[in-house]
Amino acid sequence: MHQPSVTQAAMRSFSQATDPRLGQVMALLVKHLHAFVVESKLTKQEWLCGLEFLTQSANITDSERNEFSLLSDILGISSIVDVVSQPEGGTSSSVLGPFHNHDSLVRPNGVNLSGDQPGQKTWLHGRVLDAQGQPIAYAEIDFWQNADNGLYPAQDPLQDPHNLRCKILCEADGSFNLLTLRPHPYTVPTDGPVGALLAASQRNIWRPAHFHVIVSAPGYVGLVTELFPADSAYIDNDTVFGVREGLIVPLLPSHNLEVAKRYGIEMPFLEMNFDFHLVRQIASPA
Ligand SMILES: [Fe+2]
Repeated sequence: MHQPSVTQAAMRSFSQATDPRLGQVMALLVKHLHAFVVESKLTKQEWLCGLEFLTQSANITDSERNEFSLLSDILGISSIVDVVSQPEGGTSSSVLGPFHNHDSLVRPNGVNLSGDQPGQKTWLHGRVLDAQGQPIAYAEIDFWQNADNGLYPAQDPLQDPHNLRCKILCEADGSFNLLTLRPHPYTVPTDGPVGALLAASQRNIWRPAHFHVIVSAPGYVGLVTELFPADSAYIDNDTVFGVREGLIVPLLPSHNLEVAKRYGIEMPFLEMNFDFHLVRQIASPA
């Protein structure tokens, strides 16, 4: 059997899938993987090396650590899925990353997350609006970031598990605000096969600093995104390709006396202002 007939036979083998979408996706996957093998003239040794890479990835994966998710990120697949599934008219989405927790506590709008830990005080504020710029009342914001040492609580036993993360309900006019800290760049995990691949490729292992945000409101498409301080290192070289132009936001010194008094902090502190735009959900046909 020659290559074209092997490819066609392998594609056809999925034609009876009970879910037609499964059949379509698998046939396309086979088509493009075969094309990759043919175009690269992949050797048996290289194919075995690829299988060994996947085996090592499986061996290091557990409930806390997913090497396949990281592989998807550093290949740019996670970002391309974001871009392809993005509804038009809203704020750009970006990667979720591995440090999201579902059990963040609901805190009052305006909460001070920074407490007395080290770091530059940063006032984050803005509004949640629809695609036409009209406020969305009482949207929920799920927020998380790393601490001044560059670590998330899951990586750092000295941090409270709820450090620098919360959910808040926005006001009726869509506004929200909270006091937090400047986030910092960090490296992706490098102790597994993906780290070895990055090293062998002489690739950057750093992500630029970012806030993680999930914005949701009934009737609107949920938004998973990140905000990147414009002055962060690696803003032009994110190893997981998560930076989008509209998500690069100035982090500027502020002399807002009212805010300084409210939180009892010194001026200047840092300030970031960003409005999120959500797109209406299209009602699915009955
Ligand atoms: Fe992150």
